[in-house]
Amino acid sequence: MAEAPAAELPRESPVEPELREVGRSLATAFPSRARHPLRALDAKAMERSAEDAELRAALFRLVDVTPATRSLDDLARHLGAYLEDVEEQPQPLRVAMRMAGSAAGRRALGAAAAASVRHMAHRFIVAESPHAARPVLGDLWRAGVVSSLDLLGEATVTQAEADRYAERCREALDELAEAAPGWPERPLLERDSSGPIPRANLSVKVSALTPLLRPDAPDRGREDAARRLRPLLLHARELDAHMHIDMESLDSLETTLELVFELLEEAGLREGPSVGVVLQAYLRDSPAHLDRILRFAGAADRTPPLVVRLVKGAYWDHEVVEARQHGWRPPVYERKADCDRNFEALTRRLLDARPLVRVAIGSHNLRSVAHAIAYSRASGSSDADIELQVLRGLGDDLQHALAASGFRVRTYCPVGELVAGMAYLVRRLLENTSNESFLHEQARGVSVDELLAPPA
Ligand code: FAD
Ligand code: 2OP
Repeated sequence: MAEAPAAELPRESPVEPELREVGRSLATAFPSRARHPLRALDAKAMERSAEDAELRAALFRLVDVTPATRSLDDLARHLGAYLEDVEEQPQPLRVAMRMAGSAAGRRALGAAAAASVRHMAHRFIVAESPHAARPVLGDLWRAGVVSSLDLLGEATVTQAEADRYAERCREALDELAEAAPGWPERPLLERDSSGPIPRANLSVKVSALTPLLRPDAPDRGREDAARRLRPLLLHARELDAHMHIDMESLDSLETTLELVFELLEEAGLREGPSVGVVLQAYLRDSPAHLDRILRFAGAADRTPPLVVRLVKGAYWDHEVVEARQHGWRPPVYERKADCDRNFEALTRRLLDARPLVRVAIGSHNLRSVAHAIAYSRASGSSDADIELQVLRGLGDDLQHALAASGFRVRTYCPVGELVAGMAYLVRRLLENTSNESFLHEQARGVSVDELLAPPA
């Protein structure tokens, strides 16, 4: 075949060689699998469920129902019923089905199922309370890792529940403010070129702060959430803590952004605390969302600067199903490569917008992370001016590699009871068992060079 003229060859972006170097170097800093035998077992189970849609559905239904079951017998009955839908049952499942046939077998099966769900949950959930999480956060800090405590709980349905969530947030801020001063000095973790970075960091969800979130009546939800978020922000300012407002499904995006923008313009909140918002790259409209965020940051000119955490988005399945039910075009990209490319474009825009905003890249995808680091370096910035973020239990190996390589990495640490954590747990399982997920590719043994290739 005749060679294409040089002018027609796709030109490689100048950042690619540095990206490959950063990615390969991080890959060599990953801890070896052998150090986590239980994790390897989890990975095997997730891999199996990624390949078998019925097994995957059975796993989700089991996780969903576990906290609500009355007894081990009851749990085993549910499990037995779910597994009946799995057409080609591997040997361990056939044994489980036989056990579900007798009362004694059901008790044993129920206990095993409950233990598995708890084990899976403990991989992602740090502790039951902020107080119980203190040793974990202290250990992370000493290992060169910052954290954001996340209080599990979302989609509250009563005012009393929302009040309780706000109260728990206040207690969590107090716990963090008491614990953090005892941690040793770590300049990389607590300063960038914009100034000091608070040691205490809390992530919250707006849907937990009000039961009135409705896209058709955004003012009611915003006002109700504001009366709980305002005192929390004032308290965070007193304690010098950072508060990060997570982003949830699209129907609450408008309320969430407007809520944050309005509150931060109030006189008592212009000069602190440090606050962050989230940008979801899977949304087709995300470039316009970034325009709005940057316009706000430019007009507000806050000290400390607004933190923008860029993620792909955790509600992909929900958005697609919801849109299809209504016969709408999904608001999210439907090709993974399109989402990944948009993530990189938004990364570049965000990094170029510094120091107006502080940038946090939330991803477990080595390519997405290496791209951000390489682009930041190419624009002449210090590595201290970019933060990498991971989720506890999903990004542990990357967290280790980033900290060992001298980057500031923040681990998102969910805290709370299993019941409150179910929706979070199901999102993590969906992410982990999706065939298109980076972590799945990595677990399948795809080579580092392929993992670092541009999205196509
Ligand atoms: P990858 O495997 O590279 O990407 C997986 C993601 O790609 C999926 O989650 C989905 O977003 C997208 N995707 C999957 N399939 C397709 C497809 N067919 N077409 C298009 N896109 C697809 N998420 C939130 O929504 N709100 C938050 O506030 C939030 N906070 C976070 C905080 C931290 C510290 C971290 C690390 C993550 C947070 N996330 C949040 C979760 C984040 O969105 C997911 O962890 C992330 O999407 C997984 O992406 P990845 O880059 O690690 O993996
Ligand atoms: C979630 O709750 C991490 O905010 C993200 O799924």
